[in-house]
Amino acid sequence: MKIVVENLTYTYMKKTVFEKMAIDNLTITIPDGQFLGIIGPTGSGKSTFIQHLNGLLIPDSGKISVDGINVEKKNFRALRNKVGIVFQYPENQLFEETVYKDIAFGPIQQGLNAEEVSERVFYAISCVGVKKDLLEKSVFDLSGGQKRRVAIAGILAMNPQILILDEPAAGLDPQGKNEILGYIDKLHKENNLTIILVSHSMEDIAQYVERIVVFDEGKVYADGTPIDIFAGDASLKKIGLSTPQVTTLMKRLKQIEPSVNDRIITVEEAVKELYKILK
Ligand SMILES: Nc1ncnc2c1ncn2[C@@H]1O[C@H](COP(=O)(O)OP(=O)(O)OP(=O)(O)O)[C@@H](O)[C@H]1O
Ligand SMILES: [Mg+2]
Repeated sequence: MKIVVENLTYTYMKKTVFEKMAIDNLTITIPDGQFLGIIGPTGSGKSTFIQHLNGLLIPDSGKISVDGINVEKKNFRALRNKVGIVFQYPENQLFEETVYKDIAFGPIQQGLNAEEVSERVFYAISCVGVKKDLLEKSVFDLSGGQKRRVAIAGILAMNPQILILDEPAAGLDPQGKNEILGYIDKLHKENNLTIILVSHSMEDIAQYVERIVVFDEGKVYADGTPIDIFAGDASLKKIGLSTPQVTTLMKRLKQIEPSVNDRIITVEEAVKELYKILK
């Protein structure tokens, strides 16, 4: 399920005064089963990029292939079956009368029979912790966090091998956020799904992903492990991005106590390091 993107370029509103090059000659390979994080300033092309991966947008130039399938109009259906995209505030797109019907919509479109659809729905809710007794409720009776999970379940029910999420935790309280991200992490670890997580939260990115690609002005600004990107010298400040707060803290501590390891990006690691120092 490898994704190969070569020299991708995409411009909105071509040949108008509003013309805007959103992706500029971007090349990137995403191996099967990777948990990738994409960060970058507002307007750097993150959402535009991910919409290319299932054919919602077609490149102006360059090539994209997903598991050997070229992204082009005629391959729409095959791509949609492999790549599931959860857009920002996906709950705004819930529209069926019941939770069940909403989650079942995708698998029905895929042509599955009633029994297969039902299996997919139950599987999908188990992946995101939605209880069975919610299935006959109206989506409008659910809490914000529940709606978000139902929307993600609707994508999972299509059984994608690549799951792309654009700010899946935006607007949720800390507990709701950790739960959703925990479920996504589990899908990666237990089902070997390739995950692409777009987020403005450096803390969330640091905690979950294996690799970070930093976008700026439609280009890859940096690409590396979370430790290298956040604790190394990726000069995120120059493009208006920050590092996780705990990394900033550890760097300050190192100025006072040089033996401190400041290549630290999560609170858990920081606690361990501090215990070591205090011993
Ligand atoms: N439908 C559109 N029509 C015209 N221009 C667009 C459209 N969507 C995005 N753009 C422009 O393309 C550029 C890239 O936008 P994009 O939404 O991909 O950025 P982003 O990195 O996802 O930003 P954010 O962090 O705010 O979500 C921006 O300059 C944006 O204004
Ligand atoms: Mg965006």
